[in-house]
Amino acid sequence: MNNIDWANLSFSYMKADYNVRCYYRDGKWGELEVHSSEYINIHMAATGLHYGQEAFEGLKAFKGQDGKTRLFRVDENAKRMYNSAIGTMMAAVPEKLFIDAVVKAVEMNKRFVPPYESGASLYVRPLLFGAGPKIGVSPSEEYLFMVFVMPVGPYFKEGFKPTDMMITRKYDRAAPLGTGNIKVGGNYAASLRAGDEAHAKGYSSVLFLDSKEKKYIDECGPANFFGIKNNTYVTPESKSILPSITNMSLIQLAKDMGLEVERRPVPLEELSTFEEAGACGTAAVISPIAKIDDIDEGRSYIFSADGKPGETSVKLYNKLRGIQYGDEPDTHGWVTVI
Ligand code: PLP
Ligand code: COI
Repeated sequence: MNNIDWANLSFSYMKADYNVRCYYRDGKWGELEVHSSEYINIHMAATGLHYGQEAFEGLKAFKGQDGKTRLFRVDENAKRMYNSAIGTMMAAVPEKLFIDAVVKAVEMNKRFVPPYESGASLYVRPLLFGAGPKIGVSPSEEYLFMVFVMPVGPYFKEGFKPTDMMITRKYDRAAPLGTGNIKVGGNYAASLRAGDEAHAKGYSSVLFLDSKEKKYIDECGPANFFGIKNNTYVTPESKSILPSITNMSLIQLAKDMGLEVERRPVPLEELSTFEEAGACGTAAVISPIAKIDDIDEGRSYIFSADGKPGETSVKLYNKLRGIQYGDEPDTHGWVTVI
């Protein structure tokens, strides 16, 4: 029996009924297994625990008004996890296995897909790590790929309301030629102290600058940055930014709406020219930014003085959510109906 307050969910862990697992051993992937335990039994010398051989993904499933469940761009998450595996010398999960595992995990936990009216969704967390023992620094010979799910509400508790963010030069999230462009756990460990300082100061997130020169906008906490000006959608290009599937989708939707799109290095000073700014990602969806404080330079950039999201951000948000929930036609073939 579900006894979940769907409309008031936050972005936090909740136990569902089942998770799906698949082991890579002796040079090949095994069969998908379904488990009900939240715990895994792994070797204490697993490379995932010691040497950061770990990658994860995040995607969502949405219940439509028609009662159908839709997965958003699962093939893109499969490709990205493939790249994360290559980047950390792990056994890559073939796209079909990835998609089969995600679909199975959602199907097995259907009762946790939030109802349409709640505005919530089912967050799907695929995970891959080196499970075999190594004590010298080298790749594992065994891997565990697993998928678990949970119903979630907004990542930033404010939801689709502008929040304040903070620039700091004290920490880097990723090295210029490091692992910022793949989704590996180490990037998130490296961002924790900066995030904690931001939260302690009342900010929703950190806006990271590029690690080399501190001149350009990089990542926006666990999301990509975008700015809007003169009917143009501008988003940073950098080797240390994770290629966001949400951003990729917003770029297409912006073009469909007749906006220009610029993907290029975005100098910090350019912040003062944007009419709107936001963070985008699966968990964050679009999180409009009210103000960015550069706490080192004592400078603020304001995008929303009235506490409301900008007009273009609203249009993009509504269009994206419309496609995800099945209210708008899926003209780009982004949705998998389960
Ligand atoms: N950047 C970082 C560092 C992230 O963790 C995420 C979340 O996945 C994103 C960007 C957004 O990517 P996506 O839109 O594919 O969820
Ligand atoms: C996501 O948006 O799916 C993320 O992975 C962000 C964060 C929860 C790590």
